[in-house]
Amino acid sequence: MKFSRLTALVAVPLLLSCGPDFTESGLGTSIDFEPDRPEIPRSETVAPYQGTDSYVLDAQERYRTGLDVHRKVIWRTCTPFDGVCHNTKEYPDLHTPSNFLATINAPCNVVPGEWESVYDRCEQEPDQFEFNRGDLGGRSDVGWIDFVQGEYPEYSEGNPPTVDSPGVHVVLRDKLDTERSEFWANGQFWRTLPDGERIVFARYETRWWIIDDENVAGTHLVAEVRNYQTDTAQELPNLGIKQGDLNRNGEFGSDEGTPIPMIAPGDPEGSYLVGRMRGEMHGESVPGSRMPLANQPLDIPDMLALFCFIEGLPADGSDPDMSAPVNFKDCSYSADPANLNLLGEGVTWETRISKILEANCGGCHGGASPDADLNLLEGAYEALLQPSIQKPELNLVEPGDYENSYLWHKLNNDPDIVGLPMPYNPLTGEGRLSEAELGDIQTWIAAGAVENE
Ligand code: HEC
Repeated sequence: MKFSRLTALVAVPLLLSCGPDFTESGLGTSIDFEPDRPEIPRSETVAPYQGTDSYVLDAQERYRTGLDVHRKVIWRTCTPFDGVCHNTKEYPDLHTPSNFLATINAPCNVVPGEWESVYDRCEQEPDQFEFNRGDLGGRSDVGWIDFVQGEYPEYSEGNPPTVDSPGVHVVLRDKLDTERSEFWANGQFWRTLPDGERIVFARYETRWWIIDDENVAGTHLVAEVRNYQTDTAQELPNLGIKQGDLNRNGEFGSDEGTPIPMIAPGDPEGSYLVGRMRGEMHGESVPGSRMPLANQPLDIPDMLALFCFIEGLPADGSDPDMSAPVNFKDCSYSADPANLNLLGEGVTWETRISKILEANCGGCHGGASPDADLNLLEGAYEALLQPSIQKPELNLVEPGDYENSYLWHKLNNDPDIVGLPMPYNPLTGEGRLSEAELGDIQTWIAAGAVENE
């Protein structure tokens, strides 16, 4: 009789870590090794989907269990190349099933690559800031904090710091109730603990300036950093201070209610991870480049498996049994999987792809005599389905197959192209669309390069 999957999972790591002597395990437990162990009955059995929808059947065959979803959807699209994404470098780390599970109910965007790409609804309930002196106003929510390094200038009345001067920048929600714009004080960061107790968990004593900021006048503080203070100043932004306006757009995301989590059990559409793949959540666009970058976009069965897996997660946030089957039969998305096409709301020819081409290419590929005889302003869709002039064995766009689409080669400066990479910039001699634009073109081609959707 073969081992059940569960036995294998439990036994293998213990065998490896404890050596051959199973009874004297360092963990203080003993395992009776019994090759004929019976299948462990599961408390919950999941009946398979028996309908006829080919997307669901395909998903069910490819993704039997949560482990399959992790390995083939998450790991394949995101983590295999160490250092490329989400391995150890980027948050969230997704390279093992347990790391993946740790993203359930975890906050999103806590370590953003760029503050501009933070989604308002990932912003957390902020910590608060207050000076130790009563004449400098009360406590206010922290919007964001940043340490700008640089040669320390002698700031003075006539030469005050500005929004990008060297120093520690702390931007608050409210204007401090004081007339002063420069003073020596101890700035204190307050946190409210889950039991309601408030504590000061960080301080910084120096000369502070209150300067004007584009959002609200008088809410931008700059703390001076002398040489001997550099270490303390450097530490501040790394202390995990909760910033209510991490993306610095003047809006505090937590005002909209509780922040959305990376993965919301039972609610794929309310999970940031899924939002980043679709580029939108609840009808709002999610900033940042669309995931997965530089990897094959997810197809409909991939998406269905991910959706059904998340929908089936225990509502209390406890860890699911990753080796249990994904329940496609009762999954609400099995009713209409075609809806999960990543094209969704955002990436259509009409609303996105044609606009990217118009804006970046129309100047040369338009008008009476377009470059390379390719008009990307009028009749562009039909033109893109034709063979390339430079490489006639390839169509410019091969629906469903970006690797065999010459347009994709030109956009990526692939070694096989004739001429220059596109969009050609006559000033620099090169050019490249943004990662987000490239990701959307790739998704569009992979999903069939349809015109009307
Ligand atoms: C500054 C002018 C300029 C811009 C901007 C420009 N192109 Fe081009 N494009 C050219 C020229 C000139 C050629 C022919 C020479 C070459 O390929 O280097 C060309 C060739 C091409 C070809 C090859 C056509 C074929 O049939 O093989 C494609 C595809 C293409 N461009 C796509 C684009 C796309 C897509 C954009 C925008 C993202 C773009 N180009 C932006 C000038 C431009």
